[in-house]
Amino acid sequence: MKSKICLVTGANSGIGYVTTLELAKRGARVGMVCRSAERGEEARQNIIAQTQNDRIDLFICDFAVQSQIHTLAQEIKAKYERLDVLVNNAGLIGNERELTPDGLELTFAVNHLGYFILTNLLKDCLLRSPEGRIVNVSSEMHRFTKLDFDNLQSEKSYTSIKAYGISKLCNILFTKELAKRLKGTNLVTNCLHPGAVATNFANKANGFLKFLFKFSKPIFLSPEQGARTVVYLATEDEAAQYTGEYWEKNKIKKPSLDALNEAYATKIWEISTELASLQGQTF
Ligand SMILES: NC(=O)c1ccc[n+]([C@@H]2O[C@H](COP(=O)([O-])OP(=O)(O)OC[C@H]3O[C@@H](n4cnc5c(N)ncnc54)[C@H](OP(=O)(O)O)[C@@H]3O)[C@@H](O)[C@H]2O)c1
Repeated sequence: MKSKICLVTGANSGIGYVTTLELAKRGARVGMVCRSAERGEEARQNIIAQTQNDRIDLFICDFAVQSQIHTLAQEIKAKYERLDVLVNNAGLIGNERELTPDGLELTFAVNHLGYFILTNLLKDCLLRSPEGRIVNVSSEMHRFTKLDFDNLQSEKSYTSIKAYGISKLCNILFTKELAKRLKGTNLVTNCLHPGAVATNFANKANGFLKFLFKFSKPIFLSPEQGARTVVYLATEDEAAQYTGEYWEKNKIKKPSLDALNEAYATKIWEISTELASLQGQTF
């Protein structure tokens, strides 16, 4: 991995932090995307101290703000001649329906559009890799909801589990459609469920989720265990043979029927292109 240039979003905490650490241990150059400069720099210093790899860069971006994703992409393109691995991981679960400064539902904007926009804006950079990989962190919670195009951003009704489930379903549909569009290139893309992992995730949740995460933490996976499939898809030779698949524990798994619906995947791509004003700039 020494010759590889990798980028991990949500890299200061949980699964993203361990993924960055593992890539750094393998000698890769790694860009960490974090929303807090303070938390990001602390994590970067810890990783350098643990791995003696000082080729770790920090980028700051709040994925809830589309203009910040555009600035981030410019910074990455200015710094890296190409990108070999992109790990879209930054994510959240909300308590109540909240709008971003762009007027979009927060969970959908960060968890899905964040992946969609960054990946497409880094198109040229990724295409320059001789063997590039895009890894999208999804969740089994995608099964908790049916896709309702009239309630994509919880316009009609909101529950945190439903909004989160839609965003994670969109991660799989995005991966499937992206894989189709990557045919004939040197890029592959896959997505995964990391397991139920004891991270900072849902720390700010309330109600049932707070209860679930608090009391289940002792039986949850460690962040190291949670990052295993991410690291596998990002680094292992055998994983590069596959594209457009959903994985858990280093194995391909069948996602929900909605996640396998090709028409849904195309429609989500089109809607996302419009919401991000990326016409003519996507894969
Ligand atoms: N933990 C689980 O059981 C589980 C299960 C299935 C899937 N996942 C998925 O795993 C991924 C990583 O979650 P985790 O469990 O490692 O949780 P985590 O420890 O809370 O890490 C989430 C990361 O995303 C960042 N983030 C959140 N909102 C952001 C925003 N608006 N802009 C930029 N960065 C933002 C966080 O930054 P801050 O530190 O600044 O908040 C943090 O670095 C998520 O996509 C989640 O959906 C987790």
